[in-house]
Amino acid sequence: MKVCVVGTGYVGLTTGVSLAYLGHQVTCIDLDEAKIEQLRGGRPPIYEPHLDELMAEAAHNLTFTTSYEEGVRGAEVVFVAVQTPSLANGSPDLRFLRSAAESIGRTVGGGFTVVVNKSTVPIGSGNWVDAILRDAYEQHHARRAGGEFAVASNPEFLREGSALHDTLYPDRIVIGSDNPRSLEVLARLYRNVLNQSFTPPSFLPRPDQTDAVPLVSTDLASAELIKYAANAFLALKISYINEIGRLAGKVGADIVQVARGTGLDARIGSRFLQAGLGWGGSCFAKDTAALIATAAEYHHDMPIVRAARDVNQRQRTLVVDRLMEELRILKGRRIGLLGLAFKPNTDDLRDSPAVDVARLLLARGARIRLHDPVAAERFRREHPDLAENLCHSLDEVFDNSDAVVLCTEWAQYLELDWSKFVGLMNNPVLLDGRLALDPGRLSRLGYRYLSLTGDSGA
Ligand code: UGA
Repeated sequence: MKVCVVGTGYVGLTTGVSLAYLGHQVTCIDLDEAKIEQLRGGRPPIYEPHLDELMAEAAHNLTFTTSYEEGVRGAEVVFVAVQTPSLANGSPDLRFLRSAAESIGRTVGGGFTVVVNKSTVPIGSGNWVDAILRDAYEQHHARRAGGEFAVASNPEFLREGSALHDTLYPDRIVIGSDNPRSLEVLARLYRNVLNQSFTPPSFLPRPDQTDAVPLVSTDLASAELIKYAANAFLALKISYINEIGRLAGKVGADIVQVARGTGLDARIGSRFLQAGLGWGGSCFAKDTAALIATAAEYHHDMPIVRAARDVNQRQRTLVVDRLMEELRILKGRRIGLLGLAFKPNTDDLRDSPAVDVARLLLARGARIRLHDPVAAERFRREHPDLAENLCHSLDEVFDNSDAVVLCTEWAQYLELDWSKFVGLMNNPVLLDGRLALDPGRLSRLGYRYLSLTGDSGA
């Protein structure tokens, strides 16, 4: 099928490249000339494992352009995956979505087209996009009403760092539209993902348990709400285990065992029960805020979602409290932070707990040393005021330090030869913000092992 994707961020590019790999003719549009040039050269502008390889394999089905005319005309499906950053009041800024919808409305034609909202947009945005499309279409086509198109929602559940895996082997595909023809077109588009009949790329083998993928076809509003309901649930699952984690610390229980024993109940599930510094990234904070903002428009309170956000923020200040408890004085202390990205396998720093922790420590007068194996350069650009604290080597982070905090559980840190660093420290305090290290082993090496959930096991 001929497909167009507007916006080449994480979601747009992953969607475009995956659909091209699956055999569709895909044109990706972005207004950023430099980005398009880079993509034409086969280089993705984002860090995502295997994206360059999949792009190379799908190159014959992929076109990159800045022209709506080239991408939209004749496409059966047009995905809109533009950014929707948060406004000060928590609701998303839909400027980019509006201008994309206007451009699509002016260009669309040549058969029935499904315009799909792939960006996470507030509930009701499908209708709003439909109205913008129709206005732009009618103005451009000499007031000829009723263009042959319909709007659908196809929320994305991919995780940064495993975006391609999640796209090719999803737990489910959700499509929502008030137009039955759109649902039929999208089911056809995803046919070989739904029945898993494509040949997997050698570098992304199919997981053993993958059967046919369930398709959830709904009306527009339900699909839009599913995205928020899913992200808010994941966010509150993490905050819940962090809440229990603090109690575990107080009563002397081991939160890792508690999470395991709880999560093995199939009704609960063991994923997203990893206690620690809590969630960051572009999605959970933005989506929980947007959900609360939408609910407020309907005079509906969401106390559980609000609590999940509060608990998550508290985890960040808890790092400072925990270090203060241990070191008594933070002023003048040298504290190293391992990991700046909001999670491993991405260079994304948006709402990263590590960045907040760094700023909180500085505000208390501590001196900080920052390290990340992948996100350091991006950190330098996005946080120039903190860039002087970046270290090139781990030796620099540990040398003469009073404490080191593991903020992001990069494999490189987990596999570190920890015996080499303890002797460099002034105070061998190690705060494992992700419960990712072996407390017994580190204690034997001479570290004072701390966590946010009590120091049991040390
Ligand atoms: C999240 C969702 O997992 C995706 O399903 C969704 O599509 C995406 O948002 C989105 O809306 O675009 P993502 O933000 O990429 O994906 O990252 P996650 O892997 O979900 O991790 C989010 C944060 O939660 C990270 O900071 C991670 O360290 C933290 N986390 C995750 C925990 O603290 N504990 C856990 O058990 C799991």
